[in-house]
Order: sequence, then structure tokens, then C-alpha cells
Amino acid sequence: MANLKEQIDTRRTFAIISHPDAGKTTITEQMLLLGGVVRSAGTVKGRKGNFAKSDWMEIEQKRGISVTSSVLQFDYDGKRINILDTPGHEDFSEDTYRTLMAVDSVIMVVDSAKGIEPQTRKLFEIVKERHIPIFTFFNKLDRDGRPAMDLLDELEDTLGVATYPMNWPIGSGQVLSGLFDIYHQQVEVYRPGNEAERFLPLNEAGTDLATDNPIQQTPVWDEAREEVELLKDAGNKFDENAVLDGELTPVFFGSALAGFGLETFLQTYLKFAPAPAAKRTSNDQLVEPDQDEFSGFVFKIQANMNPNHRDRIAFVRIVSGEFERGMDVVLQRTGKKIRLSNVTQFMADSRENVENAVPGDIIGVYDTGNFQIGDTIYKGKKAIEFKELPTFTPELFMHVRAKNVLKQKSFHKGVTQLVQEGTIQMYTAWDSGDYILGAVGQLQFEVFQFRMANEYNSEVILEPMGSKIARWVNEDELDPKMASSRNLLVRDRSENPVFLFENMFAERWFTDKYPDVKLEQKL
Ligand code: G4P
Repeated sequence: MANLKEQIDTRRTFAIISHPDAGKTTITEQMLLLGGVVRSAGTVKGRKGNFAKSDWMEIEQKRGISVTSSVLQFDYDGKRINILDTPGHEDFSEDTYRTLMAVDSVIMVVDSAKGIEPQTRKLFEIVKERHIPIFTFFNKLDRDGRPAMDLLDELEDTLGVATYPMNWPIGSGQVLSGLFDIYHQQVEVYRPGNEAERFLPLNEAGTDLATDNPIQQTPVWDEAREEVELLKDAGNKFDENAVLDGELTPVFFGSALAGFGLETFLQTYLKFAPAPAAKRTSNDQLVEPDQDEFSGFVFKIQANMNPNHRDRIAFVRIVSGEFERGMDVVLQRTGKKIRLSNVTQFMADSRENVENAVPGDIIGVYDTGNFQIGDTIYKGKKAIEFKELPTFTPELFMHVRAKNVLKQKSFHKGVTQLVQEGTIQMYTAWDSGDYILGAVGQLQFEVFQFRMANEYNSEVILEPMGSKIARWVNEDELDPKMASSRNLLVRDRSENPVFLFENMFAERWFTDKYPDVKLEQKL
């Protein structure tokens, strides 16, 4: 289907990852502005405080546009863009990691005054392991930030990735004059409130607003010029294949709030960001996006998006073929046939109600409890099962029980559903069967507790067990007597035995004592 291929080529599906306050919401809003979805940019107020609420819901309320909290689709420059939301907080949660499995590239937003924060490292390991192209945007150039050269060094050192600056700041904060657009060989002049002559050739870069002198005579110009020369000689070369492989990150500077550098960023980004690619199945076959038969996988389940209706939406990334409303698909895990009739699609402006979607797009399927995270759905005779979504080795654990012992039913229902959604991981103590929650980051517990109370009317008591090292063991090699207070024995969701070691020493002690027992970890 030639038309299908053409449609796929226009898709760009990505996530913006950042630390809180780096400017993700502002950038998203600027992109919507560039896409003509909203008419004026304004800082979205009062979005802080409630971690369970997405920033985008705020945008939606504020602007009265149709945005869901998880996916946002709009058209720009002949491309159809799908932005997937990731919660921005200190400990990137499993949810963020899984969302990365559904995108074709990633934009990382960094506050240029703060630089790269160490937690980003783990996220980067995953991005690199999966060879996801990553583009870096150093934001808030209108404020005094760290020297651009330092930021580049830090990015390379902390994340072990090569960098290529696509543009370079001429000053920052009060003395921000513009950007050397290295890639396009022009100067983008910073003239707040005056859009005329924004782009100039390198040799006539305009006037400095403060002094009325030509920009070329300012100290920041000289400094930037020298640095650009230095980068030309000593920096990395631009290599499109290295970008596509996630080995080289193109770096951009700008100010989202001032809308400065954003348009060139978006245009250049769209030029190099890949269209939807083939995905691997569990037996290592590639499913090409333009094959006729529809397939996709569930990367996120969100319950109770609307507290008035207890609905649950399974977010499906389309991998191949075309989605049509009302089509029948097979849910691979159960073999069950499911009709996709109650499906949401995500257009940021409601100009048209799209009835079909293609690879790269995300559809939200109303779910009555059929789906689990990682499920594959497909059409046609040939069964497809996409590679499992990564499970993460949790590091933090808590005992959990219902505050009110008489309310076991809602407690169990809540725990089961939230675990199915992948909000948190659940283990049971080997002997007692007590519930133990495992998480990658502290915030997951808070979200769990909050949602249990709000959505399931179940107050829970959490007792911290601290951090543990979780290691999976083969049941054939296991003797429950191997467990002790320093290495607790638990079962995971699929009944597999896992030891929770108190620390590295406890793990070493164990491997010395039982050299034949193989300990395994997940990502
Ligand atoms: P986030 O989604 O990554 O958490 O960041 P968000 O866009 O909410 O931005 C966090 C704060 O940083 C906001 O200010 C926002 O206005 C500001 N900001 C974003 N981009 C820029 C930029 O390029 N330059 C400057 N100077 N500030 C920027 P706030 O005071 O926390 O919120 P508000 O009261 O302005 O809404």
C-alpha cells in the first residue's frame, strides 16, 4: 500500500525527557504554538504540587484544546508529530522507561544553569542500549547559565555520548545576543519583541541592542566565535548515522520561554529524527511498518483518567499496518479476539475526527480489564509477539497492607489493577505471603498510596524495608533454607523466586556460600 508508506514517512513519534522545571511544558507549548494549535504562548500557571496530574491536563484546561495527558498529536511542516508524555521527576520511573519503548527518538531538555543531573544516567543507558536517537536542548539561555563548553563536557562525561552542537550561544542572560547556527551557517539574532531580520548571514550579524554597536564588536561575539572555531577543529564531526544509532547527540541551545531558537530546533530536529522503524518480535523477526497486517503493543495503561467514569485506557503504539475503527484483532497473550471500536485518537486540535491511524501513531483503547502492559495485538493469520518490555530491577521495597482490615476487597482490587498498569511491582514473602512492593524510585510509592486512597478508597500502610538488591534465582537450584534475614526470599508476580539482599556484602557472602546458584538481575 503505497499510500501507507507515504503516511508512515510523515510520522515523528518522540518523548521529551527532562528534570522538573527544566522547561518541558514550556517547550511543548511552544511546539503547539508553532503547529498553530494554540494561538498565544503563556506560561501555564499553577501546575505544581500535584504529581498525579499531568502538566498537559493543565494545558488542556487552560487552553480548551483536546489534549490527553499522555499523547499529543499535531501537524507541523508536513509532518504529523506524536509527543508522548513522560513524568518529569527526580527518579525517572518505570513508566518513563516503558514509554521510551514506544518512541522513535527522544528530546532531552536540560536547564543550562543546572546542567545534567546524575539520575539521567540510567535513562541514558536504556536509550543507548536500544539505540534510540537523542537530541539535546539546553534551555533558559535568557538566564545566566553555565558556560556552553562546560555543559557539553558534562554531557559527554556523565552520559558517555558524543555531542555535536548544531548551534552555539552568543552570550547568555543579560548579554544574550544570538546563536551561531552552525548547521545552517547563519546567525539567529536575539531580539525580543522584534522578529524582523532574525536570521542574518555570518558576516553581518546585526546590532547589539544594549549598546547599539555591531554585535561583532561585543566581547561575547569574540568568545563565541573562538569557541566555534575550536569546535570546528577539535569537536566531533556531524554523522547522521551516529545520530540515528544514538551514539551522537545533536545539541541545541535556546530559550523556550522567549521562543528563541525553538523554531530552528524543531525544523532541524524533524529533519534528522527518524520515521517509524521496524520492531523486533520475541523470536527476533522484524515487523516492517508498511506491511499490510496491523500490529501494535501496549506500553502504558492508565486507569481512571476521568474520575466520573471508571475507565481504563490501554495505550497502543502501532507498529505495522493501518488501524481502522471497529477492526477485530487478536490479543496475543490470551488468543482472544477483540474489537477495537471504542478507541481514542489524539489530535491536539479537533479539526477532524481521524478514523484511521498508521505506524508511529498511538491509539487509546478503552479496556475492561483485558490488557496488560507489554501485550501485543495483531490482525491476520500470522501470530506476532513483540519483544517483552523491559522489567526493571527495583531497588526500594516496602511492606504494604490495608489500614482497615475489613476493606480487603478494595485493597486487593486496587493493588491488582495498579500492578497490572505497571505503577509498581509486587512481590509476596515466600512463607507468609505478605505483600511487598518494589519500585525503582521513591515517587512510585507515593503515587501508589495516593491512587489507592483516591481511586480505590483504600488507605494503605507502607512500611519501608529500605533498599535491597533483588536477584532472581532458578527454582531448581533453590532451597528455601538459603534465605535469612539478610537475604529475604520472595516471589515475583509470576511466582519466580527472588532474593532481596540487604547489601553487596550479603550478596557476596551468598555467592561464596552457594557458588552453584546463579543470581540474575533484570535491567
Ligand atoms: P517542566 O515542565 O520541565 O517542569 O518545566 P516548565 O516548562 O514548567 O518550566 C519551569 C519554569 O521555568 C517555569 O517558571 C517556566 O516559565 C520557566 N522557564 C521555562 N523555559 C524557560 C526559559 O527559556 N527561560 C526562563 N527564564 N524560564 C523558563 P516558573 O516560575 O516555575 O513557573 P511560572 O510561574 O512561570 O508558571
